[in-house]
Amino acid sequence: MTHAPQDHRYLESEADDFFRRNFAGADPSVLRPLKATIAAELAEAGVTPRRMLEFGCNYGDLLHHFAATTGAECYGVEPSAEAVAFGRRSYGERVELLRGTIADHPLRDDPELRGRFDLVVVDDVFCWVSRETLFQSVANIDAALEEGGVLFIREFLPLRNQRNRNHHIADEAVYCYKPSAPHARIFTASGIYEVVWQKVWMDRGDAWVTRDGRDPFESRWCDSILRKSYGDYYALGSGGG
Ligand SMILES: C[S@@+](CC[C@H](N)C(=O)[O-])C[C@H]1O[C@@H](n2cnc3c(N)ncnc32)[C@H](O)[C@@H]1O
Repeated sequence: MTHAPQDHRYLESEADDFFRRNFAGADPSVLRPLKATIAAELAEAGVTPRRMLEFGCNYGDLLHHFAATTGAECYGVEPSAEAVAFGRRSYGERVELLRGTIADHPLRDDPELRGRFDLVVVDDVFCWVSRETLFQSVANIDAALEEGGVLFIREFLPLRNQRNRNHHIADEAVYCYKPSAPHARIFTASGIYEVVWQKVWMDRGDAWVTRDGRDPFESRWCDSILRKSYGDYYALGSGGG
């Protein structure tokens, strides 16, 4: 993965470090509050998954929530070996957790799982993906989703393209990339995805916004639910081509 420095760095150490810093002592029976907002938004949009895949799922609490409440078949991909091990210990066979990145993960090689999922979740992950593997990541997400399936994306929505350095990594530049045209736009620009539900919200934790004088628009988030169809979003023209 020499052409994917950030993906490599996450696989090598940062994903485990992130898990240890934030969730090593988590209670796996409790859905984290930010994950609960995703479950609520999906419910509001009328999405009840039967087969769900989450990329960058950490230890898989959201997947477990759906497996337990709707009986969905749930798969997760996460670069942190420790998060995957913690999730496997906590949830057993209810959730299939695999180590990898969006661009490079074991499900890609399973022809039975291509186009199999009716829900794919990408929660605050796109900004960390190596820019070099961004389009491979988009292609893999599309390959996993079935016709009519939905994609949930949570991401930053700043006013201008911005990248912030991950200050936990001293020896290498790893950035959080926040494009002003959100990653969801890559999907809609294809003509294959349309936004069916959306919410823009502010991370208004006072301490966070005022601590370092950061522009509050940097704390603007966008949750998008996109529906996929290869044909539905085209008007049929009258010409011959
Ligand atoms: C800031 S966290 C976002 C919250 C996270 N989705 C969760 O459920 O806790 C970013 C997550 O994405 C993972 N990640 C980073 N780069 C990734 C990539 N290229 N593909 C998949 N996951 C990635 C990290 O290991 C981490 O779990």
